[in-house]
Amino acid sequence: MVPHVVGIDFSHSFIRAAQKIQKNGKLPFDLLEEGKKSRRSIVTAPAVSIRQRVCFMTGDALHLPKGLGTFDLLLAANLIDRLPHPKRFLSQVLPSLVNPGAKVLLTSPYTWTNEYTPSSHWLGSPSADSFSALKKILRPSFRLIERTNLPFLLRETRRKFQYTFADATIWQKL
Ligand SMILES: C[S@@+](CC[C@H](N)C(=O)[O-])C[C@H]1O[C@@H](n2cnc3c(N)ncnc32)[C@H](O)[C@@H]1O
Repeated sequence: MVPHVVGIDFSHSFIRAAQKIQKNGKLPFDLLEEGKKSRRSIVTAPAVSIRQRVCFMTGDALHLPKGLGTFDLLLAANLIDRLPHPKRFLSQVLPSLVNPGAKVLLTSPYTWTNEYTPSSHWLGSPSADSFSALKKILRPSFRLIERTNLPFLLRETRRKFQYTFADATIWQKL
């Protein structure tokens, strides 16, 4: 059982929603059906004993608060292709956040866009894919344990979904 979890995201509204769910155990919201029509829905959380172990905070993955500590498990879910400098996160921030032997789970569909990441900072190149670049960056400090396709579904309306396969890799800090 994990004793303490820190959950960080750049978005104040995401963190506020997570904190409300943590406090109340549930959060009602409007789920878009189509056009102007929505349906009231509700998200529920696990038992208090589990959710009280989590601390949610807003933060920038490239400029995390000092004194955050180090961790035995780190998940960066669909984050790196939203960062202005993914290589800096992978080569400097990640290694400083985890203890020797810690596991790191990275997932990303590698949907690089200039909106979030200048193309000069995208992982990979015309001749090498993002995973090859990822390996090259992480190999000095991490050992690759496992790699798999992780599907996820984003709902837009009742009839429209986006189905994506993230590249999920698990690494161990040397
Ligand atoms: C594609 S979403 C993934 C959300 C969630 N982690 C998931 O897997 O469902 C990318 C998330 O990264 C967050 N984000 C973007 N830039 C960030 C940064 N510099 N530091 C921390 N979080 C960031 C966004 O607010 C957004 O919640």
